[in-house]
Amino acid sequence: MEPIVITIDGPAGAGKTTISRRLSDLLSYRYVDTGALYRGVALCAEKACVDLTNEKELSSFLQSLTLSLVRDAAGGLTLVADGEDITSLIRTPAMSMAASKVAALPLVRAWLLEVQRQLGREKAVVFEGRDMGTVVFPEADVKFFLTADISVRARRRYAELPENSGQSLEDVLEDMKKRDDQDAGRDLAPLVAASDAIYIDASAFSIDEVLGQMMVHIRAKS
Ligand code: C5P
Repeated sequence: MEPIVITIDGPAGAGKTTISRRLSDLLSYRYVDTGALYRGVALCAEKACVDLTNEKELSSFLQSLTLSLVRDAAGGLTLVADGEDITSLIRTPAMSMAASKVAALPLVRAWLLEVQRQLGREKAVVFEGRDMGTVVFPEADVKFFLTADISVRARRRYAELPENSGQSLEDVLEDMKKRDDQDAGRDLAPLVAASDAIYIDASAFSIDEVLGQMMVHIRAKS
């Protein structure tokens, strides 16, 4: 099969990360979790006390920031910011909301657009995110929009939380609704399926079933 660019967009908890990872393994492609990059920007901006409303300050912060994603031995992704491994710090509920907030800022989106396009130059990549097929790679070879019922997504996210998270299923559901609204309602690169994306509602499917459906479309394209 010829190497191609595959994009998987969709809301939180739809299974994008597991599926993108498995798909990239099956195809021996690179895997890029773009949500991790937004989380990285949010965390580093918070640590550096950047005033997000001050464009000059935000711009000089971004100019000096270096983010990279490295596949680790266990198959996961390590996020490195200015030489420091910040992977374990970006998956908290607070960072999910903070990432969604910085993701609405034009300067942040423009900066990450370049970072992501640079990663796509090698043409054998599975990208997961919110606007991969609509904005970042409108010419992607195969685009998927992966979603699931919000109650299914919230239950999945809740099951992934550590026991001492302090969050109830209701808290997770509320946060998810808020983040869905924020991501779908923003002016810039809102969460929406590309007109040429293959829409998959995974509510009633297993991971293997979704992967099977995707592979049929990928084989047909490459
Ligand atoms: O996918 P994940 O939940 O890690 O993404 C965190 C946040 O980053 C999302 O809620 C969204 O606001 C933002 N994001 C985005 N565009 C992407 C990927 C993530 O706006 N391509």
